[in-house]
Parts: sequence; C-alpha cells; structure tokens
Amino acid sequence: MTRATWGTRLGFVLAAVGSAVGLGNIWRFPWLTATNGGSAFLLLYVLLILLVGVPGLLGEMVIGRRSRRNPVGAFDALGGRRFRALGGLALVASVVVLSFYSVVGGWILRYTAASVTGAYFEAPQAYFAAVDFGPAAVGFHALFLLATVAVVYAGVDRGIEVATTVMVPGIVLLFGVLAVWVATLPGSAGGYEFYLSLDLAYLRANFFDVLVAAAGQALFTLSVGAGAMLTYASYIDEDRSLVADGTLIAVLNTGIGVLAGLVIFPLLYSLGVPPGSGGPGALFVSLAGAFADLPASRLVGVVFFGVVLLAALSSAISIFEVLVAYLVDEHGLGRSRAVAGVGGLFFLTGSAAALSPSLFALLADTIANLALTVTLLGFLLFCGWVLGRDAIAEYERGAGRVARLTGRPWYYAVAVVVPLFLAFTLATGVGTLVGAPVSAPQAAVIAVAAVGGTALATRFLVEPT
Ligand code: TRP
Repeated sequence: MTRATWGTRLGFVLAAVGSAVGLGNIWRFPWLTATNGGSAFLLLYVLLILLVGVPGLLGEMVIGRRSRRNPVGAFDALGGRRFRALGGLALVASVVVLSFYSVVGGWILRYTAASVTGAYFEAPQAYFAAVDFGPAAVGFHALFLLATVAVVYAGVDRGIEVATTVMVPGIVLLFGVLAVWVATLPGSAGGYEFYLSLDLAYLRANFFDVLVAAAGQALFTLSVGAGAMLTYASYIDEDRSLVADGTLIAVLNTGIGVLAGLVIFPLLYSLGVPPGSGGPGALFVSLAGAFADLPASRLVGVVFFGVVLLAALSSAISIFEVLVAYLVDEHGLGRSRAVAGVGGLFFLTGSAAALSPSLFALLADTIANLALTVTLLGFLLFCGWVLGRDAIAEYERGAGRVARLTGRPWYYAVAVVVPLFLAFTLATGVGTLVGAPVSAPQAAVIAVAAVGGTALATRFLVEPT
C-alpha cells in the first residue's frame, strides 16, 4: 500500500497550524503574557519562538520529511535500529500529552453544550467543581476522543486535511469577530492595558524564571517534542521549503495566540471580573461566569467554547495521528484497526486522568514538560550529530535563496545552542521535581556535560555506512 500524503501544500500548513493552535494559545498564553510583563514579555516570547521554537520545529520536520516515516521508523531508517528508542520517547510523550489534553477537551465540549441552556451561569464555581473530575468527566473525554477518532479514521488527506482546512479559518474568523465585538463593550479598554502594557521592571527582576517559562511555552505551542510535526512532515511528498512552511506556521500560531488575549481580557474587564492568574479556573470559572451578564449570553458561550473546541480538536488529532502512523508503518496494521487500538488506549489513559485530579496535575504540570523536553533534546542531537550534513541538505531542499542562507546557523542551533538550553531547563526542572534544587551554574555545567557527552557518544553509536 502506498503511504498517505497531503493533497495540497496549504492543506499541510493548515493541519500543522491546527496542531499548533490549541489550549496552549487560549488558556496558557494570554495569562502568561498578562502576568509576566505584558508587551515586554511578548517581545521576549517572539524571540524565543524564533530562536528555540522554530529551529526545533524545523528539526522535527527535517527528520519527518527525510524519512517519510512515523517517529520510530524514522530514527531506524535514518540512524539504524539503535535509535528506535528515540522514536519510542515521542510515543510516550504523545500519550502523556493527549491523556490530559483529552480531559480538558471533554470539559470544553461540555461547556459548549451547557452554554445552550446556560447551565453554568448561576454558579460557575460550583458548576466547574462538580464536573471537572469523575464519571461525567470520563464521559465527555470519551466524546471528545470519539470526535478525534472520526477525523483521524477518515485519513490523512480526506480526514485530517479536510477537517483542519475548515477548522483553522473558522477559528481565525470567529476569534476575529469576537475580538472586534468585545472592543465595543463599555469598560473593555482596561483589558488591553492589563494585557499588553509594557512592564520592563517585572521582566528584569524575574528574567530567569520568565525565560524558562516562555521557552517551555514556545515548544508546547508549536507542538514540538512529541513527534506530531515529524509525522505531519512525513506526509509531505513535494520538495518545497520547510523553512517557509515552518515560519508561516509559527507566525499564524503566535497571531492567533495574541488574538485570543484580545478577546479574553477586554471581555473580563468590561464585566468587572478580575482576570486571575490563569489555569482552568480562568477559562471555566471567571470567563464562563462572566458570560451570564452579557446580552445574548448563550450565543456568546456557544461561539466562544465552540472556537476553543475546534482549536483543541485539531491539536488532539495531530497527537493521535503519531501513534496511528506508528502502528500502520511499523506493524502493518490497516488504518481502521490502528485507529481503534489507539482510541482504546487513549480512552483508558484519559479516563484515569479524568478520575484522578492528582494524576491529571502530575501529567499536565510536570511530566508533559519533561517528556517533551527530553524528546526534543534527543531529536535535535540526532539531527546535529547523527544526520549532520544530511540534515542541512534536507533543510535546504526546496528552500529559496534567502532561506538557504539560514541552513548553517540553523544547524548550529539544533546541534549545540538549543540542546544546551533544553538540557539546562531540564536539569533545573528535574532538580525541582525530586526536591533537590539545582542552581543556575550547576545546571549550566550539567547541560554542557550532557550535550558534550551525547555528542561524543553518537560518534561511537552511528553505524558505519
Ligand atoms: N500545540 C497545542 C496547543 O498549544 C498542543 C499540542 C498539539 C501539542 N500537539 C502537540 C503539544 C504535540 C506538544 C506536542 O495547545
């Protein structure tokens, strides 16, 4: 059987933007900006997207397009059997991310439906507390997963591509309409101030923490580190510029994140609700509760949660596809059987997270970040030290003259600079997790040792060709 491919270039870009635009843009990014120095943070964030996020994204795309395989098969094909474990890491990271993501997707589905009757208007806090975890959360997680299954089942070009080609423009359009509309509400002006006012002093005082948080967000929001972009890029069958595609994906993703903030904060201000500091409560309690006081409150609720639902769904699809591609490529399963198997697995892992708040928090707050960082670190070191010249060749294939000039700088970024940065954040993150805080200089030493050591080790691991 021939391997699936995208129908059009735009189809690939929109599918990738659909993957990137999700809960990260709507629920994490706006609050991160507002509480970390406003437009000063935004500037730093854009820089990190360009210096860490985009190079990482292109690293995944290079591996995917060069191998035309799922993550496990990709490392096997490009580096030999010993590197299959790197792809295995991506499968683990995918399971970790979708297990909690699908639970939140279930909440959003429930809120979209509940907006029709205004069920949460009266007592938003109590409503959320009653539905967040437990059997009902399992049910809505299952429904959300079922929607994901339906799209993935229909195939790469006929399912994922068709769905995201409708969903992504829909997200932009609906958020655009909402952003214009909230600007007309009385009292909304304070929201822009809160969101984007320049606070350099804050950034200067907390530079280090902000930097690490922003870098983590830059990776999560671009869907890097779980093999999703690798898998999507493996379905590309033309020589076109990965650099142009990757940059476009990052620009659209950042734009939609900023747009989400332009809806949320003016809305909260016009209704006199304190924005709080983010987290599930911000979306499902403050914001949802505020809808009650609006004219056409139910319509606003349906539209708002409907957009968020589209965004979450198109992200979940990309994670789900990683495991489907693995089963199809490596185990020769037909698509329908693979989808059924992966669906069953995610039903179980997501249900566990929907029943246990502590498991959910562990996955969402800690394990996901670590798993994504470790995986990406492995991917990039592979690009830099195993693929080497081939990585640059793949990067430059189909790229225009200007983009080709970035080939070498990109190579040094993925071989050395970004890995150092990732290893550094990893060292601090693990230190905090195990209760043995690692200082910045210590983390720097660990990072240099880890990256240098792996680089050396790959010299001995690579099979002579
Ligand atoms: N980028 C998505 C968001 O911002 C989430 C996501 C989708 C993701 N696929 C991923 C995150 C793969 C990490 C890895 O919500």
